[in-house]
Amino acid sequence: MQNQKVLILNFGGQYDQLIARRVRECKVYCEVRPYTMTLAEIKEYDPIGIIFTGGPDSVYKEDSLHPADGILTMGIPILGICYGCQLLAHHLGGAVVEAGEGNAREYGKTLTHYDTSCLLFDGLPEEGISWMSHGDYMEKVPEGFSLTAHSAMCPNVAICDENRKLYGVQFHPEVNHTENGTAMIHNFLYKICGAVGDWTMEDYMHRCIREIREKVGAGTVLLALSGGVDSSVCAALFAEAIGSQLTCVFVDHGLLRKQEGDEVEAAFKKWDIHLIRVNAAKRFLSKLAGVAEPEKKRKIIGEEFIRVFEEEGKKIGKTDFLAQGTIYPDVIESGKGNAETIKSHHNVGGLPDFVDFKEIIEPLRLLFKDEVRELGRKLGLPEYLVMRQPFPGPGLAIRIIGEVTEEKLEILREADFIFREEIAKANLEKTMNQYFAALTNMKSVGVMGDGRTYDWAVVLRSVTTEDFMTADWTRIPYEVLDRVSGRIVNEVSHVNRVLYDITSKPPATVEFE
Ligand code: XMP
Repeated sequence: MQNQKVLILNFGGQYDQLIARRVRECKVYCEVRPYTMTLAEIKEYDPIGIIFTGGPDSVYKEDSLHPADGILTMGIPILGICYGCQLLAHHLGGAVVEAGEGNAREYGKTLTHYDTSCLLFDGLPEEGISWMSHGDYMEKVPEGFSLTAHSAMCPNVAICDENRKLYGVQFHPEVNHTENGTAMIHNFLYKICGAVGDWTMEDYMHRCIREIREKVGAGTVLLALSGGVDSSVCAALFAEAIGSQLTCVFVDHGLLRKQEGDEVEAAFKKWDIHLIRVNAAKRFLSKLAGVAEPEKKRKIIGEEFIRVFEEEGKKIGKTDFLAQGTIYPDVIESGKGNAETIKSHHNVGGLPDFVDFKEIIEPLRLLFKDEVRELGRKLGLPEYLVMRQPFPGPGLAIRIIGEVTEEKLEILREADFIFREEIAKANLEKTMNQYFAALTNMKSVGVMGDGRTYDWAVVLRSVTTEDFMTADWTRIPYEVLDRVSGRIVNEVSHVNRVLYDITSKPPATVEFE
């Protein structure tokens, strides 16, 4: 059975993923597609509703982005957000102009008044804060539309034509700052588009398992398991669907955290799959010997990873399918132009061209991270794996500043373990999105007992973030930091100093290299 679907047409807005998240939170399936989608493609997709995203353009400019002709008369309900709202006005006989100073240009939190007789605002408070970010405004509302919201600066904050089921809002209901924003989206979906809320993880899991079985038949599947959330959930899904036809190659590059390799192995014991753990620590370390430059380290690890996987693939012989744990944000992101390379991220993903296989299967490519976690739970993966914080492909190598050695890895593993243990004891895990220890390349003088020491400094890092593009350092209580520091200098040899990184991103990055 097909789910009901909502189509989000992307006009280059900053919040396109957030809109999709909100729709899925309302238990309605949706996809973000480019604004260039043709009428025929839209008909084939068969949405119950369409959302136009915001965008940086001005609708009245010559080279601005517009949807397919005829989309507004298809009879499918449409919600236009910001630029999307202006598109409705522009195409239906209204007028959009550049807002002047003190005249309708709005940015940030804005007190907004709503007409709750409009279905979009039905049942919600008559006023509240909304998040505005627009430099243009609807000077003239198109015929057939009524005004349904205003603010002090702007009389035309929302419009609707309930007969044609066309709705537009200048503000961003998908952003957390907008009070009742998700409830407005919920109204659009349920009261206007007729959604029934049929998007559940349980259904999705069963459907995925069925589809994998149909596609794979009696064939074989190979998967590179990193131990991260995505590849683990992907492996569990295939394990459940096709059991012994699945081979997982888990390359232990020796740059994992304490106990991590064993935990990953243990989590997959309950399924009848072939799990090959390649202990390649020596090999990686010898390639990294004497290398201190971060990008060089990253490249060496990425390449070596592929070599090891390739060798294992050859041993296994012909494989019918390659499975990858690509998730939806990766898919949406890769559709955009590339920003400047700050760090060459290495993922276990993009492997291909050497293993002999027919096709790649990516069963998570339409899921967001929290949906992936929920799916993992439904499949019976342990909580520590499902809730695992992001861990970079190059592992501890980019948390040791400068050259990587076995001794330094040992120091870092122990210090990092203590930090994580104390955070867990203090019940702070949910207040931070990523936290870890790193080893600096600084030695300094200390005193222990009655003797002088000359040892390494460990640095603790913890960030709070929504998307890892920007991040704030976490205000960890002093007493917790104190316990961590005390334990590290006492329990880990060759460390005599513990620092806490209080830099946000930007200007710093989350990782040190
Ligand atoms: P940065 O250091 O760029 O990190 O601020 C942002 C997020 O990305 C993770 N990260 C990586 N993840 N391969 C990955 O899979 C990589 O090479 C890599 N480098 C950084 C980092 O842990 C943080 O969550």
